[in-house]
Parts: sequence; structure tokens; C-alpha cells
Amino acid sequence: MSDILTIADLKDLARRRVPKMFFDYADSGAWTESTYRANEEDFGKIKFRQRVLVDMSNRSLESTMIGERVAMPVALAPTGLTGMQHADGEMLAAQAAEEFGVPFTLSTMRICSIEDVASVTKKPFWFQLYVLRDKDFVLNLIDRAKAAKCSALVLTLDLQILGQRHKDIRNGLTAPPKFTPRFVAEMMFKPGWAFRMLGTRRHTFRNISGHVSDAVNLAKLSEWTRTQFDLTLNWKDIAWIKKRFGGPVIVKGILDKDDAQLAIDNGADGIVVSNHGGRQLDSAPSTIRVLPEIADAVGHKTEVLMDGGIRSGQDLLKALALGAKGALVGRIMAFGLGAGGEAGVARALEIVRKETDTSMALMGERDIRNIGLHNIYSNDLERRQGY
Ligand code: GLV
Repeated sequence: MSDILTIADLKDLARRRVPKMFFDYADSGAWTESTYRANEEDFGKIKFRQRVLVDMSNRSLESTMIGERVAMPVALAPTGLTGMQHADGEMLAAQAAEEFGVPFTLSTMRICSIEDVASVTKKPFWFQLYVLRDKDFVLNLIDRAKAAKCSALVLTLDLQILGQRHKDIRNGLTAPPKFTPRFVAEMMFKPGWAFRMLGTRRHTFRNISGHVSDAVNLAKLSEWTRTQFDLTLNWKDIAWIKKRFGGPVIVKGILDKDDAQLAIDNGADGIVVSNHGGRQLDSAPSTIRVLPEIADAVGHKTEVLMDGGIRSGQDLLKALALGAKGALVGRIMAFGLGAGGEAGVARALEIVRKETDTSMALMGERDIRNIGLHNIYSNDLERRQGY
């Protein structure tokens, strides 16, 4: 792993090691993928102020997210099918996060279950909830998250219906994969992935298996989502979810300042500015573009986190400068897992840590909690206002 210097290196390695259908699942956005691309590209338009001859000793990346101490203000995002990037991927990513000192979020749509992850971790993790039509099942999921001592519930609001990802349909995505001649041939070039997958029994959606028998057919994911997800979910639902969980509820999928206010009015303990990694509404703005106006509107009332497009420590610093308290990273984790399991995720976090630390020093900052708009080069500040 020592020759892996950037997240792009990890991504290249993951592409070589993971079956195409699962790599593509992670590396995709909805329809034209314009929002997926914009999430990354818009970070590139923002420039830092470089400051010199500032004491740069004793730097600290420590902060808090939703009241928890974090070694760096990053949490691993809930991503579907993580256990298909690498056998037992969720458990390995959770262990890497714990070791590094950042929160891990287990998704409803993951391969390993709440109990699987709890069995290999000591610290509490976060649980991401999709609200399905079957309320008894949702209540049961919340209770399981509580029993596993999850310290926050992340409620995803932007996927009650699925944005179409062409690659998944073209690849005939299933979990576990179907042994078509094409897939079997591919395994000859990805023996490590296949070998490890044979060594685990975790191949399907273990949070929901038993509940939904055809959950494995991901090619029909939009059909499945249509029948299982609650299209009537509304702001009022936050209250019963919060009451049942009894801990902080973070709502994810906020891309509009009016929605940010509604989230607060309805009891959210934090928001994640997110367009679901460009996987839902194609042509929605990038998250880094809308972050400043949302942070301006509600940042003094609630904790604003963001996700989407972060591929470096510099990106993280830009998100913090424009008003986020921390960021969630999903693809970084998926690429790390695909490239090298737990060591790959640890490497991803280490790359981001080093980039953040060195860049912060070059910006004349010693404490990540002091990063703010004053670190952004002013011409870009103007451009930001005129986007
Ligand atoms: C699930 O959350 C997905 O984006 O595929």
C-alpha cells in the first residue's frame, strides 16, 4: 500500500481487483452522471489562501461530530453493497474507522448486518435508516440499532424512489453475482476477490434478508425500491423515528435551505448536505456549491455535515471552510476496500489525513476547528456568490 499516494491510485487498484459490476456500482451517478461529476469538479474551482511564516507547530485535526470526539472531522458514509467491494467489507471498514478514530455508518442496504458490525467493534457506530413501507420492520431495525448501541441514526431522505444508474442495468447487477460465463471469466483476473468471497457467508443484504426475499436482485432495484420504500415519508415522520431511537437523528439528503430549516423545525439533530453522491437527481447542484448558503441559513442552529465529491484532504478543508462541521466519505471507503480491504480503508484515511494536515499548515492554520471562509481565496468567494 505504500506506493499508493492518492485516492485516485486506490481507485485504479480497486478497478483492477473488484468485479466490474460492483466497481461500477460505486463509481456511478444517475443518468448522465452530471451531478456525480460536478460534486468532484466544483471542488477544483475553489482556491485557498496561502499564508506564510505562521507558527505551524503542534497542529491538530481533532474535532467533534454530533458530539463525538473524532481524530479528523470525517465519518465513513453509508454506502450500499460495501460487502461486495471486498468480502466482509462493512466489518473491515468499521474496524479501520475505529482504529483511526472516526465514525463509521452502517447502511440499511449493506451486506453485513448491524450485529455483524457490532461483533467486531468496540466503539459505537452510526446506523443509516431507510424507511420502508413495513413500519414494524422499520421499528425492529431501529430497535436493533439501539441494542447494538449505535450512537446516531442517519435518516436518508433522498431515496424513496431510485434515480436510474445505467451501468447497474447494463451490468445486470446482482448480489451475490450470478455465475454467468462473463462473470466466471472475469474471476480468472480477480482471483483474490473471488477467493475471499468464497470464505465468507455474507453475500446478501443481511439487515433486511428474511424480510424481503428478492432483495438480491439488484438489476430490479428500482422496482424493489418502488414496492418496499415508503413514498409517503414526510417531515412529521422524523418525530416517531427520533422517539423510538432515543438518540441523535441526523437527516441526510438536504440540498435546499428551506429543507434545512424544515429539518430543524421537525427535530433533526444535524443535517447532511447531500445529493446522494450524484446518484439520485441528475442536474442537481453539487453539494459544495450549495453548502455555503445552507450553512449561512442554519449553521448557527444545527450541525451541518456534507458529503459528495471529497477525494482529498484539500477537498475536506474546502468543505470545512465553506461551513461544514465535518464530511462523510463513501467512495473513498469503497475504493479503499476494493483495493485492499481494511488496510485499503486505513490507507485512504491516512492519505486524507496527510493531505489535510500539510495543506492546513501551508494555509497558516494549526487547528482544524479554526478553518473558515478566511482560508478561501477571495476571488473565488465572489464567484461562489455568483454561481
Ligand atoms: C443506495 O443508497 C444507492 O445509492 O445505491
